[in-house]
Amino acid sequence: MRYQSIEVRKLTPAIGAEIFGVDLGKPLGNQQFQEVHDALMENLVIFFRDQQMTHEQHKDFGRRFGKLHIHPSSTNENADHPEILVIKADENSKYVAGEEWHSDVSCDAEPPMGSILYMKELPPDGGGNTLFASMYRAWETLSPAVQRLCDGLTAIHDGAQVYGGRFGRKPKEGTSFPRNEHPVVRTHPVTGRKALYVNRNFTTHIVGLKKNESDAILEMLYRHCEVPEFQCRFAWQPNSVAFWDNRSAMHHAMWDYFPNKRLGYRVTVAGDKPFHRA
Ligand code: SIN
Repeated sequence: MRYQSIEVRKLTPAIGAEIFGVDLGKPLGNQQFQEVHDALMENLVIFFRDQQMTHEQHKDFGRRFGKLHIHPSSTNENADHPEILVIKADENSKYVAGEEWHSDVSCDAEPPMGSILYMKELPPDGGGNTLFASMYRAWETLSPAVQRLCDGLTAIHDGAQVYGGRFGRKPKEGTSFPRNEHPVVRTHPVTGRKALYVNRNFTTHIVGLKKNESDAILEMLYRHCEVPEFQCRFAWQPNSVAFWDNRSAMHHAMWDYFPNKRLGYRVTVAGDKPFHRA
């Protein structure tokens, strides 16, 4: 049996699985950690129900997977927990985090490997699901001629487009929002599989192309990434946890519940520099 200390139930063949038999409030033993890690690599996003975690326990779980990442534009006022990103929307919200398809903070030089969102409050009439899409499948289902076109290209990912533009924030004093160049097709450092790595939130243009060429190719890739065959959709309950791999999946938070409230806490695990292996 592949998994001995956890149960893994797939949501779709391409992406997503629910995990049973784990208490995230307790330190994971080595075997359980390894199996949770393997389930994440295999399914790109994994879900847990009915979890009870303090902020410290949430951060401890994240730290099993790597150093924690601090968001470059966080307005988090909780100085005790700078690594906890509050994901909140209510009747005063003008925008919500993640309401466009994206991979978290892809504008960073070393974008996060994964994000662990712990949901505490949900709108009373439903809604507030999160959609996830496999960027492996997106890459694998492009026609060979388009794969040849994209393989080896790089693109600019700019935090100013989202944090400065849509969110209307200013960078922290003396700094600017992160802006970095990444391969359009990245090789996953663990699985070795190729994944498309451009998104509507952060990617501004493909390096070396004319604006109309870059805009047309990006739009074609975005539309391809967004087809439902590569997706799963998670309906949260209070105390659900989703852990996604930003290197192989994109996600989209559905804001269909205004003016109701939705509240969760995200711990983000640091990653490394995206690379492309031909
Ligand atoms: C995010 O981390 O991008 C937000 C996801 C969500 O609120 O479902």
